[in-house]
Amino acid sequence: MKVILVVGARPNFMKIAPILKTIDKHNASGKSNSIEPSLIHTGQHYDYEMSKVFFDDLALPQPNVHLGVGSGTHAEQTGKTMIEVEKVLARERPDLVIVVGDVNATLAGALAAVKLHMPVAHVEAGLRSYDQSMPEEINRVLTDHCSQLLFCPTETAVGNLKKEGIIKGVYLTGDVMVDALLSNKQAAEKSEILKRLDLESGHYLVITIHRPSNTDERENLENIVSALSDSAERVIFPVHPRTRKALDEHGVAMRRGNIMVIDPLGYTEFLKLMTHAKKILTDSGGIQKEAYILGIPCITLRERTEWVETVEDGWNILVSADKKKLIEAIQHFEPARERRDIFGNGTASTSICQIILQGSLGKGA
Ligand code: UD1
Repeated sequence: MKVILVVGARPNFMKIAPILKTIDKHNASGKSNSIEPSLIHTGQHYDYEMSKVFFDDLALPQPNVHLGVGSGTHAEQTGKTMIEVEKVLARERPDLVIVVGDVNATLAGALAAVKLHMPVAHVEAGLRSYDQSMPEEINRVLTDHCSQLLFCPTETAVGNLKKEGIIKGVYLTGDVMVDALLSNKQAAEKSEILKRLDLESGHYLVITIHRPSNTDERENLENIVSALSDSAERVIFPVHPRTRKALDEHGVAMRRGNIMVIDPLGYTEFLKLMTHAKKILTDSGGIQKEAYILGIPCITLRERTEWVETVEDGWNILVSADKKKLIEAIQHFEPARERRDIFGNGTASTSICQIILQGSLGKGA
């Protein structure tokens, strides 16, 4: 069975790694029905810190094809990716195309495949924030509607698909990010990042922001930075390229020495940094979930989230870019309840591979 996997941006790499590892394990077991994987990297993210370091950390194979699509508007990125992915798919004629998450590469890969009448599997299907101003929400909805296999991380995701009339080919598999996190946690503990940054476990905050609503609007960026500056906390701020540009363009400076701005980190170093943080502040989707799995309180700089369970369980609080709410949460937010096993137990990639091998296309859960 020939399978093409499409990745493009940072949040894709840790999702694809456990799937490729499971495929390798299956092939090495000597069973007759082997899977022949081929990896396309669209090149949406191209800096060392946004891409290559993840291939190194997660021991991902070199992509079979690199499309070099790079930056651009959403239409440019999606359009260029579709044109280039289509050429590869037409040449390779895979039995299945796997896309993950919700970035522009996800939608472009799915659209190119479905128009060539190739079955698409969407890993992390059914997520909804119901906020159309997020480009990712549009990518999620459209990708789900052109996929034949929909691998859902949570029950909520299965329910969301049902509301849109999608019931065929839907599987509750658990979340592949749990697989990635569990298999890398031990290696992450060996990282020297705390020593390198002179940090004491449980005595610092970590913040990541990159969403246009926080970076492109000066007032929001200013609110966030000034709340951090005003807090007495030590803050580690690995800066996404979009945010770096915005800080420069808007002339937003770190006013106090309590914020340490660093380059984006690789998977294992960042995992260690999160594991030992007092609280995590973020506008990322994946990091909200990782904070929950690790049991670190999360403050989310957004108005809505697709990971609703993390908020319902009291481990995540939505504060948007409101300075007052942000300061209040930094000082007082504490989780109210025990965590549950909502994202699965680290066997999502095994379930996904089994379903693919069973040739269950279109049969449904
Ligand atoms: C993308 C994803 C988002 C994900 C995020 C994680 C979409 C719609 N969004 O947003 O879901 O959470 O990645 O990082 O796909 N840039 C660099 N170097 C790089 C990559 C980007 O300088 O390696 C610059 C680009 O030139 C651009 C900006 O960063 O100016 C944003 O990159 P872009 O790919 O448009 O989207 P992200 O904001 O990273």
